[in-house]
Amino acid sequence: MSLDSAFESPQAKRQYVRKLFATIADRYDLITAVLSYGQDARWKKTLVSIADIRPGERALDLAAGTGDIAFAVAARGAKTIGLDITHRMLQLARLRSSGASARQALKDSHVEFITGDMTSLPFRSGAFDLVTTGYGLRNVPDLNTAIDEIARVLKPGGRLLSLDFNRPENAIVRAVYLAYLTVVGSTLGWILHRDPDTYRYIPASIRRYPGARGVADRIAARGFDHVTVIPLLFGLMSLHLADLPTEAPRAKVERSR
Ligand SMILES: C[S@@+](CC[C@H](N)C(=O)[O-])C[C@H]1O[C@@H](n2cnc3c(N)ncnc32)[C@H](O)[C@@H]1O
Repeated sequence: MSLDSAFESPQAKRQYVRKLFATIADRYDLITAVLSYGQDARWKKTLVSIADIRPGERALDLAAGTGDIAFAVAARGAKTIGLDITHRMLQLARLRSSGASARQALKDSHVEFITGDMTSLPFRSGAFDLVTTGYGLRNVPDLNTAIDEIARVLKPGGRLLSLDFNRPENAIVRAVYLAYLTVVGSTLGWILHRDPDTYRYIPASIRRYPGARGVADRIAARGFDHVTVIPLLFGLMSLHLADLPTEAPRAKVERSR
C-alpha cells in the first residue's frame, strides 16, 4: 500500500500503521531518540510527573509501544495496562523487563501488556483513573472514536494525558518543519530499511492531523473538562491534559430521570 493511499480510509490507515510499526519495532527506541534529539525521554518524564499518579490507581497506556510510559506510570504505583495494536512492540516492551524499575513493576504485577486497538477497547466502562498515550492519537484510524473510547473507559473525574507532535498553525513554520521531517525521514528510511516512505509517514500524518488546538477542541467536544495544551520544543510538540467531569453532564442526568 502506498503512503498516500494509507490515509484514504480508517481501515487503510489501521492496516498501514500496523505494518509500519511491525517493520520498525526493533529500531523504534533508537529512531525515537535520534529524531527527537534525545528529548523524547524528557517529554515522557514531564507527562508522567504532571499526571499526579497515586499508588493503587488503575492506569491505561494506549499505543504503549515498547513501554516507556507504561513502566514509568507503574513505577509510581499505579496498576498499569499497556495496550498496542502491534504485537512486536509489546514483545519488546516485555523484554525490557530486565531493567530495574520495569522488573520491579512486573514482579509486583503492576504492569501488563495487551494487544488491541485503541478505537475499540476491550475494557468495561469506568475501569481506569488515568489514560496516557505517547504519539497515539495521531496514529489512530479515527480520532473521535479513540477519544470516545478513552472517555468511556475512564471513571468520572478520570484524567487523560497525551503527548504528540503538533501541526504548526503558521503556514511557513509548518512548511519548513514538514520539509525538514520529510528529508530526515526519507534519508533514515533509506539507510535503515531501503524504503524512504518508512519515516515519511511522520510528516504525512502530521499534515493530516488537526494539530494541538484541533485535538484540544475535539477532546473538549467529547465531554472532557479543563482541557490544557502544554507546548514543548517551541510548540512543535505538545502535551494535552484533560479530565472527565466528576458527575454526569447535565444533559445525561436529565435524560436518566
Ligand atoms: C510512535 S509509536 C509510540 C509508542 C510509545 N507510546 C512511545 O511513546 O514510545 C505509536 C504506537 O501506536 C501504535 N498504534 C497505532 N495505531 C494504534 C491503534 N489503533 N491502537 C493501538 N495502538 C496503535 C503503534 O503500534 C505504535 O506502537
